[in-house]
Amino acid sequence: MLKIKLITNGPLRIKGPFVYIDEQKVSRDIKGDPLTLCRCGRTKMAPFCDESHKFFSFNTQDQLKREYVVSNEQPNLDDGTTVVTGIENGPLHISGPTFLVDESHVSWEGNNVKLCRCGCSQIKPFCDGAHKRIF
Ligand code: FES
Repeated sequence: MLKIKLITNGPLRIKGPFVYIDEQKVSRDIKGDPLTLCRCGRTKMAPFCDESHKFFSFNTQDQLKREYVVSNEQPNLDDGTTVVTGIENGPLHISGPTFLVDESHVSWEGNNVKLCRCGCSQIKPFCDGAHKRIF
């Protein structure tokens, strides 16, 4: 299961096996344990965090308690591997077993989720479609 720690006012820290598909739909072998991925939308090293969030008032206010509608879609790969897809000018789409936890230890578990990485969602860490207004 992919574990993602939500850093308050900062990036996503991803730990666990997954396949990353980039914006050009190419599978990329990205390594790091954990990997730190941008969710403020200002990194110059996408999908990675380059600490840009520290230079403006990025406020995450993660809402993991909120009811979030997910589909029961199964993981994309038959072996159950979680697939993380960077949607061009949009969120990270995670297909597969995923566990989210914030720094207050509030958690969420699901199987198919889109996480904001433009920094503008009102329901962070989830995408609410706000990226469509800014890109
Ligand atoms: S990526 Fe930020 S609202 Fe969709």
